[in-house]
Amino acid sequence: MKKHLELFETGRPYPRPRINGCGKLISTIHQFSESLGVAIDAKDAYTRSHSVEVAEVSYALAVWLGLGAREAILVHIGGHLHDIGKIGVPACVLNKQGHLTPGEWEVMRRHPQIGEAILMPIHEIVKTGLPKMVLHHHEAFNGKGYPLGLSGYSIPMGARIIAVADSMSAMLGRRSYRPAKTFDEVLEELEKFSGSQFDPRVTAAALRHSSQIKEIFQRLAEEENAVHHNKISLIKRAGMGEC
Ligand SMILES: [Fe+2]
Ligand SMILES: [Fe+2]
Repeated sequence: MKKHLELFETGRPYPRPRINGCGKLISTIHQFSESLGVAIDAKDAYTRSHSVEVAEVSYALAVWLGLGAREAILVHIGGHLHDIGKIGVPACVLNKQGHLTPGEWEVMRRHPQIGEAILMPIHEIVKTGLPKMVLHHHEAFNGKGYPLGLSGYSIPMGARIIAVADSMSAMLGRRSYRPAKTFDEVLEELEKFSGSQFDPRVTAAALRHSSQIKEIFQRLAEEENAVHHNKISLIKRAGMGEC
């Protein structure tokens, strides 16, 4: 996937998740979540490392917003898992060329609930709050999102953070019905929808640290081209994304 990102040097390091300090259970949940994220990215023809991008940017936003170490790692894991419910969306809907019909949108909009349902049997994951992060990642700050139409701070913090990282990653990627946006266009969209679609505190953090976020996307695009891309391409060629 072509991304409009230029090399960018700020010299300011951005926060990167250090999973090992969080204990064996969280470390195992993280590995499991990353693995599921790879599975769902392989099914979607338009994404290569979307789940990893969302996980990494969400973690940095969580740290900049002052969340504690464990909470920030959980938001990172939520980023890996957020779209896992798309496993339940038929590939012909997920990978459709052009706009979805209202009926297809209805199917697509079920993925947060499917994702929550996939995670609910694992008690240790339920205790972390991750299923609610997944369930609410398409809620909007003004209450016009889905699936429950929650608004403001009744949307879990992790879900509000993931919503911003998810949108940034999605806008930077090409879709069949629109080209990829530039990074500056993505920042304009964040500003435009701050307080309506997005939590204004999260967008403020993203805009304040935009150069560092750009570096995160740049690094992942480079890594993707080096290693990850080859693994995902192999799975896609094997037909997992086909209808
Ligand atoms: Fe990770
Ligand atoms: Fe989603």
